[in-house]
Formats: sequence, C-alpha cells, structure tokens
Amino acid sequence: MTDAKIIDGNLFSARLRDTLAGHVRAMKDAHGVTPGLAVVLVGEDPASQVYVRTKHKRTVEAGMNSFEHALPADTPEDRVLALIAGLNADPAVHGILVQLPLPRHIDSQKVIEAIDPAKDVDGFHPINVGRLAAGLDAMVPCTPLGSLMLLKDRLGRLAGLDAVVVGRSNIVGKPMAQLLIKESCTVTVAHSQTRDLAAVVRRADIVVAAVGKPEMIRGDWLKPGCTVIDVGINRVTAADGSKKLVGDVAFAEALPVAGAITPVPGGVGPMTIACLLRNTLVACARQHGLPVPEV
Ligand code: GUN
Repeated sequence: MTDAKIIDGNLFSARLRDTLAGHVRAMKDAHGVTPGLAVVLVGEDPASQVYVRTKHKRTVEAGMNSFEHALPADTPEDRVLALIAGLNADPAVHGILVQLPLPRHIDSQKVIEAIDPAKDVDGFHPINVGRLAAGLDAMVPCTPLGSLMLLKDRLGRLAGLDAVVVGRSNIVGKPMAQLLIKESCTVTVAHSQTRDLAAVVRRADIVVAAVGKPEMIRGDWLKPGCTVIDVGINRVTAADGSKKLVGDVAFAEALPVAGAITPVPGGVGPMTIACLLRNTLVACARQHGLPVPEV
C-alpha cells in the first residue's frame, strides 16, 4: 500500500544517489578526480558492521573510492589517531568517517578533533559545528541534512513555520535545530527535561523526533496536518515475539493526523548514507578547487 502522506526516503535517496553518481562521472571525465571516502570501524558492534558494509556498497555504486579500516576492539587510542593522521595526509581520501560509538577506552571527542575539518564528512568537528552555527559553509551532519532535504521536498519554503526538534544530541538534535533556524523556522528544542512535551509538540508544523525512545511521541500530540520526520530507529519485540524496527513516533496513530510522515524503516535512514556521499563529493570538489555541485 502506498499512501501519499508517507514520505518515501528509499525513493528520494535512490534519486539523490543517482544524481551524485552523475556528478562523480562528470568529475572523473573532466578532471580525472575520483572522490574517496575512508571509513574507520573499531570493534565488532554488529549494528555498526551493518552500517559500514552498507556505506561501502553505496560508495562504490556511486563510482567513488571506498577505503575501509576495520580495527580490533582493543586497538589503542594512539593507533586510531595515527591512522587518522595518515588519512588526513592522503590525497586520495577526501572524506573520513569514524563510526561511532567507539570502544570506551577511546576518547571520541579527541578522535573527532583529529580529523581534518575539510575531510570531516560527518560534520562533527568543532570547526564545522561552529561554522554551521554561524551560518557559514560547513560540512553538515548527514542525518539532519537528509531530514531537511525531505522537509524541503515536501513543504517547499519552510520560513515562518513552527518546528519542534525532540532530542538535543550533537549528531541530530542540535544540528537539525541550526538548519531549521537557517531556513527561518521558529525552532524549539525539546528534551528529557521538557515540561508538558505533548503541549510543546502540539504547536509544531514540523516535528523532528530524535530521542531514541520507541513510539514515545503519540498521535494525539500532533497538530493536524503537521509534517513528521522520525529519526528514531529502535529494535523492539512485537507481541508475537518477532523483532521489528519502530521509530520514536507511534506511526499508526500519527498517520491519520499528520499531513506527511516518514516511516521507519525507509524514511530518514537511507537519506543518511546518501548525504554522506553528497558530503564526500562536496569535500572532494572543495579540496581540488573544482566547482561544488549544487546537491
Ligand atoms: N553512528 C550512528 N550514526 C552515526 C553517524 O552519523 N556518523 C558516525 N560516524 N557514526 C554514527
């Protein structure tokens, strides 16, 4: 069943990846440059292994070079930092992503800050965080960027709309709020200490849910006709004992109320990787002084 209200992230991301592949081909043909993405995985976290495999597959499909570095869980921090220094210096590598979370003995912030900001395709380096906050060109974190693309595709101009971002993480909530401010939305960032969250959410024309709590946001919290972007990916056990993925929004309750909503899976998730490829292409163009494709 397809419902016009359901925002199809699979379809949108597939089109975006096609567009990116076209730019990659053009860059190769005109300038002999192939964008390269290095992904660093430390440890054997099964979810991270799945993400990294998918990233590799999509990178190669887009015509880019993919460099994978899988290190054992007990790799010393110094070794990870030395690897990053090598990738910073490698002209074939235009983007560097260190898969999070890292094992506890490694200081994630130190690792993030070791990445050359020009190659920081995750947009987590304080230079990029600051540039985004200042409204300057920056590497923008992939999940909020993908969420914004879906919003603009559905709504066009966002100026003046009330947006509520539920969650204040560095990876999603905070950069999402910055992007929506840049679009001239009136932005509220709600979190675990927010009083009467339902009343706050009910004011929103745009709801971005990024809390990591299965189906926490209920259908009767939503303003009729609002647009819901569900960033949550939560693995839960259904009544019949089977495992399934659900978002942070109670989808079945929200669907009749919302004007549009992203499903889980198949909503924001596939946009994240497409935006990682987009950031790698942009980083490559900037590093080579080439025109930056408008994607
Ligand atoms: N782990 C979960 N999401 C992300 C992400 O966007 N980037 C990185 N590096 N690790 C993650």
